[in-house]
Amino acid sequence: LHRLEGYDSHERVVRVEDTRSGLRAIIAVHSTALGPAGGGCRLWTYRSQGEAIADVLNLSRGMTYKNALADVGFGGGKAVILGPVPKTRREDVFRSFGRAVNMLGGKYITAEDVGVAVSDMEQVSRETKFVCGLKEKNGIGGDPSLFTARGVLQGMKAAMKVRYQAGSLKGARVAVQGLGSVGAKLCDLLAAEGARLVVADIDEERAARLQARHGASRASLETILLEDVEVVAPCALGGAITGMVAKNMRAKVIAGAANNQLASREVEDILRRRHIAYAPDYVINAGGIIMVAAEYRGQFDPTYVRHEIDRIYQRTEEIVSTALRRDVSTVAVANEMVEQRLARR
Ligand code: NAI
Repeated sequence: LHRLEGYDSHERVVRVEDTRSGLRAIIAVHSTALGPAGGGCRLWTYRSQGEAIADVLNLSRGMTYKNALADVGFGGGKAVILGPVPKTRREDVFRSFGRAVNMLGGKYITAEDVGVAVSDMEQVSRETKFVCGLKEKNGIGGDPSLFTARGVLQGMKAAMKVRYQAGSLKGARVAVQGLGSVGAKLCDLLAAEGARLVVADIDEERAARLQARHGASRASLETILLEDVEVVAPCALGGAITGMVAKNMRAKVIAGAANNQLASREVEDILRRRHIAYAPDYVINAGGIIMVAAEYRGQFDPTYVRHEIDRIYQRTEEIVSTALRRDVSTVAVANEMVEQRLARR
């Protein structure tokens, strides 16, 4: 482990190199003010080490905010493994990563992220106990996407209540962009609530499947966020809400799972001026981390976890109503709430 100096915004940034396994990784601990720094490990092929560092710094700061509002007793951290990792070395690389996590003595708790599977975390767990996101046991653990979808639904309901005074989603038109792990499950939950779905995915087959399953309408990739609906749910990649979308969209609520949905800071302001209630991504997509944190604490109780996830409703209601009342952006209100929590420590 080599400590990297000069990143004063973060408590600790370390570079990990193991010539035997071939592991190259960066672990960033942004803040432990509210607990050990929790955040996934991403496996990605970066163009340079600098790009990997920029990514991990950004992601770990994001985790501090997400975990603080989710109230999971975690600070924020993240790790990136620099790919590619040959298949034959994968096991060794993740065991070696596990040893590195262990050397941090519990300051950083890892889990899976993009490019990393439950089976990889199982390897990590052979070397350290500072890991979660392992195999499912008693309904807890394993794939977090259903938990994430549940939280997004709660956030969407709260934003609909504040913006449209709607007591339920029955009959509401919802456009879902991206029908992967979270998006497809969100569609199932929305259909059960009686919402009317409009869907799009670059994967034609996925869109066709959802259309058949729920009688959903299809939209093109270009128009999905501009449809004549009450809600749009970005569940694909980040940056979906561009200035153009914010200016032209017809929905008055944005509530989806994707991270970093707003393409730039200016978008926040356009949404505010157009009285569009944006349920901040990191507030409502925290269902997965809430489940994983329960797993880490050994609370294998699905009822408790569902209850914790459902608190996303009140949190979103407070954020959106405060933002409308004060005529500021919902992101500003959410960030302020986090900063107050951090300052109280
Ligand atoms: P996924 O990879 O299973 O699904 C993404 C889907 O979006 C795929 O079906 C893909 O074909 C589609 N897609 C990509 N670009 C598109 C475009 N331009 N237009 C329409 N569809 C497009 O990913 P997953 O796990 O469902 O996550 C979705 C988002 O939610 C990601 O941004 C992820 O970071 C975020 N997220 C996921 C969590 C989880 O529990 N899986 C937790 C928190 C955030």
